[in-house]
Amino acid sequence: MINMNDLLKVDHLKTGFESDYGTIVSVDDVSFRMKSGETLAIVGESGSGKSVTALSMMRLLGTGSRIMGGQVLFEGKDLLKLNDQEMCDIRGNQMSMIFQEPMTSLNPVLTIGYQMCESIMIHLKQSKKEAWASAVEMLKKVGLPRPEAIMKEYPFALSGGMRQRVMIAMAMSCRPKVLIADEPTTALDVTVQAQIMKLMKELCEESGTAILLITHDLGVVAEMADRVLVMYAGQVVEEADVFTLFEDPKHPYTQGLLKSIPRLDSDDDAELESIPGAVPARYESIQGCRFYNRCPYATEKCHAEMPLLTVTGKDHFTRCWEAQRIEGGVEEVAYE
Ligand SMILES: Nc1ncnc2c1ncn2[C@@H]1O[C@H](COP(=O)(O)OP(=O)(O)OP(=O)(O)O)[C@@H](O)[C@H]1O
Ligand SMILES: [Mg+2]
Repeated sequence: MINMNDLLKVDHLKTGFESDYGTIVSVDDVSFRMKSGETLAIVGESGSGKSVTALSMMRLLGTGSRIMGGQVLFEGKDLLKLNDQEMCDIRGNQMSMIFQEPMTSLNPVLTIGYQMCESIMIHLKQSKKEAWASAVEMLKKVGLPRPEAIMKEYPFALSGGMRQRVMIAMAMSCRPKVLIADEPTTALDVTVQAQIMKLMKELCEESGTAILLITHDLGVVAEMADRVLVMYAGQVVEEADVFTLFEDPKHPYTQGLLKSIPRLDSDDDAELESIPGAVPARYESIQGCRFYNRCPYATEKCHAEMPLLTVTGKDHFTRCWEAQRIEGGVEEVAYE
């Protein structure tokens, strides 16, 4: 059933890649929902399936990939069932994506103006002249100096920060309802990062755009997100609003992530902790909890049986037997 407040609902998404050893499942039964204007952050270590989740939603995965199950409901419509043309209309028009490295999505042999106008003309059905004016206006909004001159430049002539601003301008120019930003500022220096994040948030607030923000940076999460989804080895292991997640994390992996960021209010000589080990390879074949080999609280049950994602507080979900035992609540999440 669709909740009328949901703009987007990802339901039991499962994505894999064909390999010589059979299908490798990279995203395993991922579910979440987003409302208009909301910022949802996805955090998790490298290889946990964040990008594959986003690319599955946009249907931008390359050959060898396979969406094996689930639904991506955008305003009640399953994007996974649309034909290529219908999906193309959604992309850019209703849902846009910003990538970590803007050069991968900007065409190096076309001017910024050409690329921006092409997209605006197609998606907003504007004339060339109108599209040019809209593009200049958007470049101004993202704080680029001399927007008319930038329209005539090729991508290589711009700095990394400028290119990222152009990407945001392009992504926002068609006023999408959902903006997916996959590590949008990792390649930039810290001061530019903060400016770009602030800009993205302001533009989205202005237009009511919901943001799906993928990041490694918990500082960015604290600043930007309303809700947070923690992924580990292809699964969601915790979901909560941003305050609850930072104040009362239930999953040992989330607790580990939070302990590994420096805090201003801790003792000077307090050492930062790290989570020993790494995300296991071929995690789909693990029978029990996928965090078992790195977890300080692991028990026999954790080894034998995969924990379900269960309710451990108000709108707070955790995939951990031990957290459930402590909380005394074992109500499986029903994404209905
Ligand atoms: N094109 C591909 N072919 C085969 N396997 C892939 C492909 N893309 C991703 N994977 C696998 O899917 C898993 C999840 O990858 P994903 O890129 O989603 O990780 P991530 O959480 O975005 O990591 P990072 O933080 O490093 O960007 C990884 O194990 C990766 O090896
Ligand atoms: Mg990624």
